[in-house]
Amino acid sequence: MASSTALICETAAWNDLKGHVEDIKKTHLRDLMSDANRCQQMMLEFDGLLLDYSRQCATVETMNKLLNLAKAAKLTEKISRMYNGEHINSTENRSVLHVALRAPKDAVIKTDGKNVVPEVWSVLDKIKEFSEKIRSGSWVGATGKPLKDVIAVGIGGSFLGPLFVHTTLQTDPEAVECAKGRQLRFLANIDPVDVARNVNGLNPETTLVVVVSKTFTTAETMLNARTLREWITTSLGAPAVAKHMVAVSTNLALVEKFGIDPNNAFAFWDWVGGRYSVCSAVGVLPLSLQYGFSVVEKFLKGASSIDQHFQSTPFEKNIPVLLGLLSVWNVSFLGYSARAILPYSQALEKFAPHIQQVSMESNGKGVSIDGLPLPFETGEIDFGEPGTNGQHSFYQLIHQGRVIPCDFIGTVKSQQPVYLKGEVVNNHDELMSNFFAQPDALAYGKTPEQLQRENVSENLIPHKTFSGNRPSLSLLLPELSAYNVGQLLAIYEHRVAVQGFVWGINSFDQWGVELGKVLATQVRKQLHSSRTQGTALEGFNFSTTTLLKRYLEVIMS
Ligand code: F6P
Repeated sequence: MASSTALICETAAWNDLKGHVEDIKKTHLRDLMSDANRCQQMMLEFDGLLLDYSRQCATVETMNKLLNLAKAAKLTEKISRMYNGEHINSTENRSVLHVALRAPKDAVIKTDGKNVVPEVWSVLDKIKEFSEKIRSGSWVGATGKPLKDVIAVGIGGSFLGPLFVHTTLQTDPEAVECAKGRQLRFLANIDPVDVARNVNGLNPETTLVVVVSKTFTTAETMLNARTLREWITTSLGAPAVAKHMVAVSTNLALVEKFGIDPNNAFAFWDWVGGRYSVCSAVGVLPLSLQYGFSVVEKFLKGASSIDQHFQSTPFEKNIPVLLGLLSVWNVSFLGYSARAILPYSQALEKFAPHIQQVSMESNGKGVSIDGLPLPFETGEIDFGEPGTNGQHSFYQLIHQGRVIPCDFIGTVKSQQPVYLKGEVVNNHDELMSNFFAQPDALAYGKTPEQLQRENVSENLIPHKTFSGNRPSLSLLLPELSAYNVGQLLAIYEHRVAVQGFVWGINSFDQWGVELGKVLATQVRKQLHSSRTQGTALEGFNFSTTTLLKRYLEVIMS
């Protein structure tokens, strides 16, 4: 039996899977897919969702071995510890309770002996009230005009999740109706070009700025917030900040120091990781301002449905658990280090960028949760684009180059159906034809024999051959309502956690982002003193000195 500090790769279950790789290498998806019984066992339905993972390079035996790995990793206990509010983020001594952000009002979720659900709902109620005031025009700007436009300033977890949900709701008929006459924009990059793009066409008199930062110290966000404060005060005077700027943060003292009235601040808590914060005020405030609280509440309910499923469903029927285990299988055993997220939905165009942070910031680690160096790699390289755009871009590599497990995500109904007279199918059918076809193209491929039968000339046969046996999974949603968006988000959040729990790492810290920030501080100081006092460059290596010299020469000339 493994000790508490033993690595998962030292367990019998891990070694069993290592040995099993050879068995799987002898199979081909072309054959595995002809076993209807196997395929049936690799499909499951929950709350309107249909997951088909029959195109994974795995058999029922593989799944059983992965479930043994889950046992060896003490997955049940780890999930319970998360829901029980234990400080599982040990390097930051914090609990991990994003599930509490979408829990029903009467739920009890405790950490440090305290039920956090009432606090969550008091912030949600405050958002509801505030957003209704803004949307109804009962809260007006400094010159008496209603605030119809919102710029949310934030980066990383304080940006990507809300942007993803906003982009998805932008074409949902119910949300469209609720957002009439309003705009929501996001300012993330410290590049002044992003500021210019954000304020372009907006009037400070009718704009509300929401500064979103868990720490309220992030350099990019704070400079962008000061830049927008300047934009407001230059045209409306300093007192306008009280009417035109609000904040979302865990650090209410710094919010006040910045000059934002603490009454206009919306709190969240250190038990919410930045990349897991879209269901806190981080996402709920900007989205409620744009779409109204009732739409956003549906999104929270969708996420909560998956939270309950994840907590209580046996692993063999548990969507995030199965997906997490399959990702571990692909990365750690089959050696596939990337994962493509391919929504057949333009509305999900910002889903992959959000999951990139959720997954890569969580699981890109080099040591175990106990600090032991890992002899195996964790995390995967996540990327993606909506189908069918991706097909005309990088799918060549996926079909004939490297093997990259793909997540195909599609919807039964379109948010914006179009059916032209005389067309064979409607536009959504056309899109979804590709969603259904691509996984089989990857799985089956095309053999030289097939090409010969088609009289393809000999010299082209190698070029037109598709090896196949490339794994994918298909997730079919009924539609893309706010509720479904919440489900999708929670599935991926929990899947990433499952992977981290199995690998035995801390998926909830992010020390790897710190070093670059520290070095940038050194450069910032140098740029300031060189600009203001002409101080010579000092303390940088040859390469950086040369680059900085060129930068300063051009600027100062
Ligand atoms: O880039 C690192 C990071 O700390 C992320 O984890 C976080 O989402 C982002 O910066 C923004 O942080 P904050 O919300 O504190 O401004």
